[in-house]
Amino acid sequence: MKGAIFFSGKYGSTEQYAKWIGEATGLPILDIKDDHADPSKYDFLVLGSSVLYFKLTIRKWARANLSKLNGRSKILFSVSGAGASAKLNNWVANSLPEELLSQMEHVALGGKLDHSKISWWLRQILWVGSLFNPNPQARKEERYGFDHMDKSSIEPIVEKIKQHQQRVVSS
Ligand SMILES: Cc1cc2nc3c(=O)[nH]c(=O)nc-3n(C[C@H](O)[C@H](O)[C@H](O)COP(=O)(O)O)c2cc1C
Repeated sequence: MKGAIFFSGKYGSTEQYAKWIGEATGLPILDIKDDHADPSKYDFLVLGSSVLYFKLTIRKWARANLSKLNGRSKILFSVSGAGASAKLNNWVANSLPEELLSQMEHVALGGKLDHSKISWWLRQILWVGSLFNPNPQARKEERYGFDHMDKSSIEPIVEKIKQHQQRVVSS
């Protein structure tokens, strides 16, 4: 029984979490942009995706690979500015087909936004967006960035993977 981590990110934080999970479990890591990232080669999958503009960035790949993802054990981790919440669950639900979502456990991880790494235009867009954000903390984070990266937050995912690996060995 083979497992792998497939990740989709833009600015490096989802990749960092994928690397931490890979180190803790020995699972290989594949970027979905890589042509060799074929989920049908594995029995269980850890899917990692950043959230940009209220959507999972893995959504198009997930739809394109739906038949390969169906029926395989899966864990989803999202990486976002927003923490675990009904709002985040809604974004996840709107990004993926319901049949797929019903087969997965979802763990929400905190991301990072470094304003020095994004374009001047994007900084202006985030600033304008912040003017309409009623939450003062979220407003500040849109304007100045944030770092919610936390290595220890991968523990529930590592635990689920280990349980899966143990079930496979004992069956
Ligand atoms: C253009 C842009 C849009 C974003 N949109 C959202 C969003 O809608 N909701 C959210 O919670 N976080 C949002 N974020 C924060 C990202 O989810 C966070 O920076 C994440 O760590 C990015 O992951 P990555 O480094 O793997 O690309 C956004 C960040 C950027 C730069």
